[in-house]
Amino acid sequence: MSDAHLHIAIDGPAAGGKSTVGRRLARRLALRYFDTGAMYRALAYVARRDGIAPADAASLCEEVRRIRVDLESDAPLGFRIFANGAELDEETLHSEAVTSIVSEIAAHAGVREKMVAAQRAIADKHDIVMAGRDIGTVVLPNAQVKVFLTASVAARVERRRVQLEHAGVRARQLAREIEERDRLDRDRAVAPLVPASDAYIIDSSAMSADQVVDAIADIVERTAQRR
Ligand code: DC
Repeated sequence: MSDAHLHIAIDGPAAGGKSTVGRRLARRLALRYFDTGAMYRALAYVARRDGIAPADAASLCEEVRRIRVDLESDAPLGFRIFANGAELDEETLHSEAVTSIVSEIAAHAGVREKMVAAQRAIADKHDIVMAGRDIGTVVLPNAQVKVFLTASVAARVERRRVQLEHAGVRARQLAREIEERDRLDRDRAVAPLVPASDAYIIDSSAMSADQVVDAIADIVERTAQRR
């Protein structure tokens, strides 16, 4: 891992606003943006498509190399992601079929090892805002700025509902889905969802996305002045 690039890690629970905030922050600071959750979702999509059981860690590990990422900031997601050469859109990545198995898939140590290596390879080449669950703790422990973005379940349900409607995905039992994924992500043995000890914790329940972006941009500026 190099210190040559500016790395901003944004971690936090499901639907906490990481992607909206991450994308806007990256645009404002002219950095690349990547949401690592999309890689786990792409793998869940491949598993569904090819009939691989979410418990079959060995087969899932084999499939990680079929996922490719292109950091094209003008793309709707803020980057492009492909499985076997076919681009995956937000509707596919956030479908219920994918969401219902992604946490189980993301809990396998072998899968995470391959994902982390691929994510570090991306960050090695760029100044980047990277969003996920373990970016500040595992993927980029030397990131210059780490943020742990949280919000109440009620605020997260509302935001996810708007996001899914926008992506054309049918609304569903969002509160139960979010609480269940919080539990699975927090309680897993490998790289559980916890703030890095040096992360700034931001509770965005009562903040707009732009206010959160302003707050993080301030932190980035203060950090740069200290260096
Ligand atoms: O952020 P998201 O909802 O798109 O993430 C999808 C799943 O992937 C979620 O259950 C947690 C997992 N994930 C992870 O374990 N580590 C990451 N860095 C990003 C996502």
